[in-house]
Amino acid sequence: MTHEMTGKSKDADRIEMESLVAQLRVHAHAYYVLDSPNISDAQYDLMYKRLEHLEAIHPNWVDPSSPTQRVGGEPVAVFESVRHAVPMLSLRTETDSLSSGAENFDKRIRKELGLLEQDPLVEYLAELKFDGLAMNIRYESGILVRACTRGDGEYGEDVTHNIKTIHQIPLKLQVIDAAHYALAEIPHVLEVRGEVYMRLADFQELNARQREKIASGMRSEKTFVNPRNAAAGAIRQLDPRIAASRPLSFFAYGVGEVVLSPSQIQSQINSHHIPSVFKSQESLLLSLKSMGFAVDPHFAKVQGSSGLVQYHRRVAELRATLPFDIDGVVYKVNDTALQQKLGFVTREPKWAVAHKYPAQEEMTTVLAIEVQVGRTGKLTPVAKLAPVFVGGVTVTNATLHNQDEAQRKDVRVGDTVVVRRAGDVIPEIVSVLLDKRVGEPSPFQMPTQCPVCSSPALREEGEADHRCSGGLYCAAQRKQAILHFAQRKALNIEDLGERLVEQLVDSGIVKTLPDLYRLGVSSLIGLERMAEKSAQNVLNSLERSKSTTLARFLYGLGIRHVGETTARDLAKHFSSLELIIQASVEELLEVKDVGPVVAMSLHSFFQLPHNLEVIEQLRACGVHWQESARAPRSAKESLPLTGKTYVITGTFANFRREDLKEQLENLGAKVAGSVSAKTTALLAGAEAGSKLAKAQELGVQVLNEEQTAELLSTLDDHQE
Ligand code: IVH
Repeated sequence: MTHEMTGKSKDADRIEMESLVAQLRVHAHAYYVLDSPNISDAQYDLMYKRLEHLEAIHPNWVDPSSPTQRVGGEPVAVFESVRHAVPMLSLRTETDSLSSGAENFDKRIRKELGLLEQDPLVEYLAELKFDGLAMNIRYESGILVRACTRGDGEYGEDVTHNIKTIHQIPLKLQVIDAAHYALAEIPHVLEVRGEVYMRLADFQELNARQREKIASGMRSEKTFVNPRNAAAGAIRQLDPRIAASRPLSFFAYGVGEVVLSPSQIQSQINSHHIPSVFKSQESLLLSLKSMGFAVDPHFAKVQGSSGLVQYHRRVAELRATLPFDIDGVVYKVNDTALQQKLGFVTREPKWAVAHKYPAQEEMTTVLAIEVQVGRTGKLTPVAKLAPVFVGGVTVTNATLHNQDEAQRKDVRVGDTVVVRRAGDVIPEIVSVLLDKRVGEPSPFQMPTQCPVCSSPALREEGEADHRCSGGLYCAAQRKQAILHFAQRKALNIEDLGERLVEQLVDSGIVKTLPDLYRLGVSSLIGLERMAEKSAQNVLNSLERSKSTTLARFLYGLGIRHVGETTARDLAKHFSSLELIIQASVEELLEVKDVGPVVAMSLHSFFQLPHNLEVIEQLRACGVHWQESARAPRSAKESLPLTGKTYVITGTFANFRREDLKEQLENLGAKVAGSVSAKTTALLAGAEAGSKLAKAQELGVQVLNEEQTAELLSTLDDHQE
């Protein structure tokens, strides 16, 4: 149905068009600049389509600031060179990472202004230094008429067609927030300056899209080195439709020419003077914001050099978390009158300085891709890089995480890559420069064997990582395996701490678990903090650890997915290590809480001859536990000590209290902490104290060590 048929007047359409443009402008500002949309995308689209429809009917009434005018401009043949009304200056740079950059600047300013020590601190406005492209955007009577790059500062290139596609840049100026607007009205001429940049997330997405295009055979496409290059590439497009498909953003931070009213003489041209229509940099930023521009909220008004130093430090910490790249901070004298007093030297203002941070991204080449084995057996592909200074340190390695990541990035030996190191984050390869690839190096492939011990490298279903299945045998996993074996919940080798394990493994004295039991005083003495007495303590605790339980031993082997509880369940179910070793996956699955993952893990562990050898040797060294090769037990009720409650006290020569407790519990008994009338018996070792007295008082049966041992041995059939 057209308007003619409905009999609506042309004026009604015109009014509707104006209203739609105005409404869409408000919504787009909320969406793109404030980042808080006030209508749904669908509602916006509906209004937009309606406007497009009306504009098609009335092409003469199309408002140049209509949102439909952002895209669809004709490609340009060449970029026109345009002389800036007010030259675009650059900033003097302080590159040192210490506070002296800020202090030098403040010192210079104070000297220039003739300030004495007792004079008040200078007020500065500190801002982020965005890593993008400087742009000058000219508005006449509030309408965007031209946008130019900085060029050489005097002449820039006209890129209006591309700049108009950036939603964060208003096509028409309006005072949205009068409270923060410093002027009476929109100036007759206003040039807004700021930075066109690309957000990191948009950059990643764009590169992912580019990679897909390349993969689907579009050879002329390329990925971008970094957000800055991607932004520059988009701005340099002759066809605005390409720029429109590249997600650009904009932050405003300054002005060029400002002519308040048509009658005002254009006195600023070539004067190198920032117009003093804004009394301060802060007022300028707030005014730009209230005119609909995106102004980064991280600017801060600070006093003196210590304020600048603090800002520099605060931003350094913040840097890695920002959604866009910065390469430093900018310090500006806040007061415009002081700025004018300070003036310029050649192409740099004296009132501002850039204080840079070390670059977070650099290019380098991949020398090799190695696979490292972690303490837990995890295989990690690591790119070995030609050394490159990035983010303040020299980087020679970058992790590729796992097979999928390595394939996604498609890093190959010889490739030129961009390395990024942000904050304390481990260095990462951001992108591969495919056009710099020489020949056809073969894609990375995860090895099928552990590069350290040659055991099979396996990737479990649903997991991202490959793991070495070598476990006890793999040198890379030695320390971890020994510490696991020695821990309290496993063999409980009390005096074998982390530091000692480190020394034993590093010196090559201990290579496998059985080596622990072959240690003598002479091999220990000479290690750090190891005198004869402490060496003897270590040997004693090793000796004590030999008497253990099947559950502890199983857990101590460090079989993947076999935790303490699973080990106990397995011990209970099978009662003997031989039966567990021989069990099929199906038989393992019969154990309570053992699923396919655990069963497979157990099965493959016992398939490996070197694991069996380690077990054999440990037993040969004297590690033992009580077990019986009887048929697996099923019903818990049949346990011989079910319903009985024991209390343990004193010290036993041949038992550890923990083991005793475990054995009793495995037989169905409860082990309580204090004696009561309900206690079945008190198991009292030497030097029993108050618990023994209490038991005697209540007439509770008391068993000494010998009697306890006897109790357990009569029940031996039921032990695991
Ligand atoms: S002010 C007269 N403020 O840094 C002052 N510049 O060489 C002119 N830049 O190309 C610049 N963030 O693109 C200013 N907050 C900021 C900035 C900034 C980035 C860029 C700008 C210029 C370069 C200075």
